[in-house]
Amino acid sequence: MSISNRNEPDVKRERIQSVRGMSDILPGRAKQYVQIESAARRVFDLYGFQEIRTPILESITLFKRAIGETTDIVEKEMFTLTDRGDRTLCLRPEGTAGIARAYIENNLGSNQSLVKLFYIGPMFRAERPQKGRFREFEQIGCEAFGNSSPEAEAQMIRMVVQMFGDFGIPFPLLKVNNIGCEICRGPYIEKLRNYLESISNNLSETNQRRLVNNPLRVLDSKEDGEQLTDIPLISDYVCDSCKEHFGKVLNSLSILSVQYRVDPRLVRGLDYYTKSVFEIYPPDRSGSQDALAAGGRYDNLVRDMGGPSVPAVGFALGVERTIAEINNCLDSLKNIDERAGVFVAALGGPAVQKCVKVVEDLRDASIKTESILVNNQSLKSQLRFADFLKVRLCVIVGDNELANNAAIVRDMISSSQTEVLLPNLVSDIKNRLGA
Ligand code: HAM
Repeated sequence: MSISNRNEPDVKRERIQSVRGMSDILPGRAKQYVQIESAARRVFDLYGFQEIRTPILESITLFKRAIGETTDIVEKEMFTLTDRGDRTLCLRPEGTAGIARAYIENNLGSNQSLVKLFYIGPMFRAERPQKGRFREFEQIGCEAFGNSSPEAEAQMIRMVVQMFGDFGIPFPLLKVNNIGCEICRGPYIEKLRNYLESISNNLSETNQRRLVNNPLRVLDSKEDGEQLTDIPLISDYVCDSCKEHFGKVLNSLSILSVQYRVDPRLVRGLDYYTKSVFEIYPPDRSGSQDALAAGGRYDNLVRDMGGPSVPAVGFALGVERTIAEINNCLDSLKNIDERAGVFVAALGGPAVQKCVKVVEDLRDASIKTESILVNNQSLKSQLRFADFLKVRLCVIVGDNELANNAAIVRDMISSSQTEVLLPNLVSDIKNRLGA
């Protein structure tokens, strides 16, 4: 019997592609997921979090109620479907709502007042796919129910920062803000709305829409920078109790040696937060705009979903973004290994003459040194050559430096520059290369 399909139309032989924004995780990469998940599990165990697994499909009402009807996630990014009983379900866009539901439904707080849960799993958002933004992505997160003290936020933030250190991303950038509670936020939003209405003709279409639906989101808008310089900030309107709470969070972070930056315009794209919110970005030098992790306190969510009044704090990190940043750090480490020695760039005749000696002084100190040392080479072309040679440091001498008897030392990895007096140059360079 022949099973040839040669006569069937070509369309049947077309390759079927994966769904846009969702990708296969092939073996090499899958290994990185497992490594991150294992490292996270070790940290969670240390901090007493227990694993919970909740369904990927939930009712749409859950997310509308928990995240907020006017948020981007609920308005534009849900993958929804109707089941045979005509119920609208959706693929979970995040973990907190489902876990709060499970906490209430399973009476998890009935035997113990503190319930600390962690989760690892896929989330789905119909965002426009781009670098660091996918339609299916994995989150690793924690939710701690039952602790209203400021130390709960500080400890959770410390745990996340420490976890990034374990992943090989030391010193991530931590932004924090206080967005107040239901008592102080109402009057603030009124003030904000009045202000935005007064300048609404100059606002972008997106911000005009936010002004109507969710004015808080205008605060972290990337648009209308100039119009928004005088925007009222929530920190000036929070009540005494929220102010005191946040002050204690910051104090505990300092005691725990966690470096932070208060960003008064940080608000989150989910409506359930109260008081402290935070976002964690790659270290400053990496230039990425995308948060690796985010979270905060949400004291009203369990109550608003029909459960008891239980305070809570949580966070989630994006595994794909974390892997990208780990690989980024590994690449720069590779760069550090590969880069060696010094290039001396002299600008103009007098500098060239001076640098003949500088080059030999460095070589006498057993430092591998290169240079071009001709009169008419631009700085740009010399730096390009230095980069091609993969040197670690560049010494730059021009007229200004000659006048100061100094040189500029440029780090070719971080691009940072410092002026160093020529008599100290050799020892300075030895220190840097040694470090
Ligand atoms: P979120 O900021 O929406 O917060 O997401 C947390 C993290 O998930 C982000 O910082 C990012 O790393 C990752 N992420 C979000 N969307 C995408 C995407 N489209 N592609 C790739 N990665 C993405 C929440 O989800 C809250 N539930 C966090 C939380 C837990 N708050 C309290 N408890």
